[in-house]
Amino acid sequence: MKLLVINGPNLNMLGIREPELYGKADYSALETLVRETCRAENIDVDIFQSNHEGAIVDAIQAARTRCDAIVINPAAYTHTSIAILDALKAAALPAVEVHISDISQREAFRHISYPGLACVKTIMGQGIDGYRQAILFLKEHLNRL
Ligand code: DQA
Repeated sequence: MKLLVINGPNLNMLGIREPELYGKADYSALETLVRETCRAENIDVDIFQSNHEGAIVDAIQAARTRCDAIVINPAAYTHTSIAILDALKAAALPAVEVHISDISQREAFRHISYPGLACVKTIMGQGIDGYRQAILFLKEHLNRL
């Protein structure tokens, strides 16, 4: 199984930005969690972070023929990006949306997720452990197909 994990804008600032919302773990701790989970599950993983919407669209398009599944935290683009939604639909890979915080309990503008409309599952409010849960879910999901 080949997996792409995508993180959107400002997630490279984890541990520094609003730790009361996103926790104290930094981005490299998130990468370590993803890599260790994938190693234990025998999953080949690429991890990609960008602050640019078009770069995220490009990464999703490239994954279409190279990957079996996507974990994506589109960060602020969650609430605005029809381009990321359309890219996920075009790639047509099983995708899980992760949010470190519980966006359903935050400002009203965070309640809508466009990319989530193309995802098989959303995990929110679990901190960075949500990524581990998303990876395990996708492995099971692909086994069921
Ligand atoms: C986030 C939630 C978004 O609303 C926010 O813009 C982020 C991070 C999360 O992981 O909780 O940057 O996606």
